[in-house]
Amino acid sequence: MKRNSPFSSCLCLLWLLTAVMLQAVESAKGKYAHMLFNELFEDYSNALRPVEDTDKVLNVTLQITLSQIKDMDERNQILTAYLWIRQSWYDAYLTWDKDKYDGLDSIRIPSNLVWRPDIVLYNKADDDSSEPVNTNVVLRYDGKITWDAPAITKSSCVVDVSYFPFDSQQCNLTFGSWTYNGNQVDIINSLDSGDLSDFIEDVEWEIHGMPAVKNVITYGCCSEPYPDVTFTLILKRKSSFYIFNLLLPCVLISFLAPLGFYLPADSGEKVSLGVTVLLALTVFQLMVAEIMPPSENVPLIGKYYIATMTMITASTALTIIIMNIHHCGSEARPVPQWARVVILDYMSKIFFVYDVGENCTSPQRKKEQEHKLERDDNGQRRHKEESHLCSRNDDTDLKKLNGNSNKSCEIHGENARVPVNCCSCYKILLKNIEYIANCVRDHKANKAKGIEWKKVAKVMDRFFMWIFFIMVFFMSVLIIGKAA
Ligand SMILES: *[C@@H]1O[C@H](CO)[C@@H](O)[C@H](O)[C@H]1NC(C)=O
Ligand SMILES: *[C@@H]1O[C@H](CO)[C@@H](O)[C@H](O)[C@H]1NC(C)=O
Repeated sequence: MKRNSPFSSCLCLLWLLTAVMLQAVESAKGKYAHMLFNELFEDYSNALRPVEDTDKVLNVTLQITLSQIKDMDERNQILTAYLWIRQSWYDAYLTWDKDKYDGLDSIRIPSNLVWRPDIVLYNKADDDSSEPVNTNVVLRYDGKITWDAPAITKSSCVVDVSYFPFDSQQCNLTFGSWTYNGNQVDIINSLDSGDLSDFIEDVEWEIHGMPAVKNVITYGCCSEPYPDVTFTLILKRKSSFYIFNLLLPCVLISFLAPLGFYLPADSGEKVSLGVTVLLALTVFQLMVAEIMPPSENVPLIGKYYIATMTMITASTALTIIIMNIHHCGSEARPVPQWARVVILDYMSKIFFVYDVGENCTSPQRKKEQEHKLERDDNGQRRHKEESHLCSRNDDTDLKKLNGNSNKSCEIHGENARVPVNCCSCYKILLKNIEYIANCVRDHKANKAKGIEWKKVAKVMDRFFMWIFFIMVFFMSVLIIGKAA
């Protein structure tokens, strides 16, 4: 430590000396700047265009840096963006010889002291007329003034939502002088596109470029050209938010609708399922309608909703008709021949409908069971008829018949012991039995008719279920295909 101390103190002294000298230079610079400022602005007016020859044009170079997209209001067609606007021009009256001012080559002064070009955003959609911000300008010894100003611009932008949520938008930002024509102030874009290097990534929009074009418009009346620079902001919507929140739920719900045809008719839920699905879709449609402009161009997703809702309305209406067919019952007329051939013979095979209520048992076993029952039934009836045809000596059989027969027969039954009248009694009995058999047969036929109508309803249900499934599927593929 002690050995080093002379050296370190020396270093310290040197450092101090440098600091003092620097301060002196700076204070000298400050003095010069003060002097320069007083001299420059002695008889300077910021109201007049700073050119030596008034016939000469003043060139203003414009450069836009896009920092952020704050908002895109589709409904009101307004793009709010955060921009840095850099304008530079040469002021003929604000020049100096930098050697005379100790090499001072630039000063920074408030921008309201110097003349500023009145370049404005033509397609502004802001209601308040904001003044230009009084940021500093950099003034160079040769008269070049560079003015950087941040700005939050609200510009009108024609938003075409036909392909929402898979849309791209182009928003123009047109800058031009408000009062000077092209012979007085000419506006030039320094680069052929806006600067996007400082852009803060947006959650909703991807930027696909910001080309700049200079347009010169000459109006019919006057010979003066009016130049402007138009920056076209090319935006592509990031659609995953809308896919997950608006599209997928709708696709899933719409797949539920055809299943309404599969619901058993007796559950009584067939129609309410359709109506519920319809209501759910209406909610989604309202959500979309709220963010979209009320324009003629219906967005793609809106078209999808409308198509799906139409389909579900149709399916609900069809369900009601099929329910009617299902409940045709035994009083109805029989199933027409063509329907029997087309629906019961062919379509039932195509759609694998075997019988009413086959859902819960395997169709094969059910069929066998029914066949067996029918065979038993037939066999018994034939057997009974044979045994009853005048088995006159069978006393027990006779007694049984007496017990079961109706009243008219009972009166005769008193004389049943008398063998002479026996045959006539049997004839009456036979007649009654025939009547009962007919009744049963009719009843069975009616029941079969009801079952047949039920089967027709079921086949139609199945048919429409597949038709609507295919429709929902194709519509979903179409809308999701647009995303790619
Ligand atoms: C302005 O720019 C044009 C070219 O665009 C050039 O010909 C003209 O000399 C410039 N004027 C001045 C004063 O720099
Ligand atoms: C935007 O500006 C470009 C270039 O000037 C022009 O071609 C286009 O028509 C403009 N678009 C709208 C919507 O004004």
